[in-house]
Amino acid sequence: MKFFVDTADVKEIRELNDLGLLDGVTTNPSLILKSGGSIAEVTKEICDIVEGPVSSEVVATDYKEMMREAAVLSKIADNICIKVPLTLDGLKACKALRSEGRMVNVTLCFSANQALLAAKAGASFISPFIGRIDDMGVEGIELIGEIKQIYDNYDFPTEILAASIRTVNHVKQAALIGAHVATVPPATLRALVKHPLTDKGLAAFLADWAKTGQKIG
Ligand code: G3P
Repeated sequence: MKFFVDTADVKEIRELNDLGLLDGVTTNPSLILKSGGSIAEVTKEICDIVEGPVSSEVVATDYKEMMREAAVLSKIADNICIKVPLTLDGLKACKALRSEGRMVNVTLCFSANQALLAAKAGASFISPFIGRIDDMGVEGIELIGEIKQIYDNYDFPTEILAASIRTVNHVKQAALIGAHVATVPPATLRALVKHPLTDKGLAAFLADWAKTGQKIG
């Protein structure tokens, strides 16, 4: 499973990348707002740090304007992945951008049929929003399973990018189902390493080691 970080916070991205944890980054208009920077500058900085795909989202809702914005965003760096919304215009833009050789992430996916359409449009990634489905009182993770089955049935090459991940359990469930990628907020990504028995075991080993009076090397 590949890990993308779901943030436009350059400091966080640099730290997580230095840890060797990142295969890519996803941003969206809300995350750009939170970063406080301009989309062009922040996205360029992120692309300079991370080698993998960096999703940058168009904000136009009509095909023609989406294509214009996609051309602007694509010039930022070679690893830009254009994010388009799951609308008819977004799907049309996806198909056109893919034929130009661009990576495309189709976002705001809330149903298996939407994911089927995105795969047929040749999307590189489909982003089902697990957490936002949970918010409605429905098990969001089930959507990942449905999409996995449909994509496997027809050998669609579109990668399932589990998004709107809020908990470490979401990551585990997405991995068990076989999502290709999870895009995870920085704090949740760091929390994956945590286990109380690891902390307890390490403390016991260090205490015993101190009693030996030895040094390694
Ligand atoms: O990248 C979009 C997605 O991950 C949004 O997450 O927590 O705002 O639903 P959230």
